[in-house]
Amino acid sequence: MGSQLIAPSILSADFSDLKSDISMVNKSEADWFHIDIMDGVFVPNISFGMPVLKSINEYATKTLDVHLMIVNPEKYIEKFAELGSNILTIHYEVSKETLRESIKEIKKNGMKAGVAINPDTDTNVLEDHINDIDLVCVMGVFPGFSGQKFIEATYERCNEMKEMITKRNTKTLIEVDGGVTIHNAKKLLENGADVLVSGSHVFKAENPKEIISKLKNI
Ligand code: DX5
Ligand code: ZN
Repeated sequence: MGSQLIAPSILSADFSDLKSDISMVNKSEADWFHIDIMDGVFVPNISFGMPVLKSINEYATKTLDVHLMIVNPEKYIEKFAELGSNILTIHYEVSKETLRESIKEIKKNGMKAGVAINPDTDTNVLEDHINDIDLVCVMGVFPGFSGQKFIEATYERCNEMKEMITKRNTKTLIEVDGGVTIHNAKKLLENGADVLVSGSHVFKAENPKEIISKLKNI
């Protein structure tokens, strides 16, 4: 079994039968649940919000990796902790002015702190923060929708993050989110990825559990 962590993205689940999909992930080789919260402002889409997260938390038996694609995420840190988030990831693009305080606040509320960067944000913007960050989420697509085509430059961006993390001697995990499949996963791992998020490739498959297992055992 590989050491990579696998986080199926619930955005691609069947919301009319969410319990079944949660149960499938519980029974699978997945490590985390990846949960996308969108506000229609930072990204051009609205996903689901707090009541849904609350329900997921009631049935999920694994780590909840919550990805906030919202403006002013600092307003909701405490709330997301109450709702059961274990990892809370905010976007650099909306949090650059208050990043240090937000990271601190996330940790103060008992969660691991994640920071996501869009495909057009330089990896070096995280240089001064990397020692405080538990997880860097390198976007493989522009956030907003599942099922988009993977951006090839992501491999190199993982590499850059890996170099920074090694140089700074931190334990920050590199997560790749967007367009991840069993076809590009190996190369992502070779380029330093620790956590693979996968939405449509897992949930639209005939046998999602098998895809999760394949991702885990690369
Ligand atoms: C994109 C979301 C992703 C998405 C991934 O905005 O943050 O987590 O659900 O879906 P796929 O794997 O289909 O690209
Ligand atoms: Zn996500």
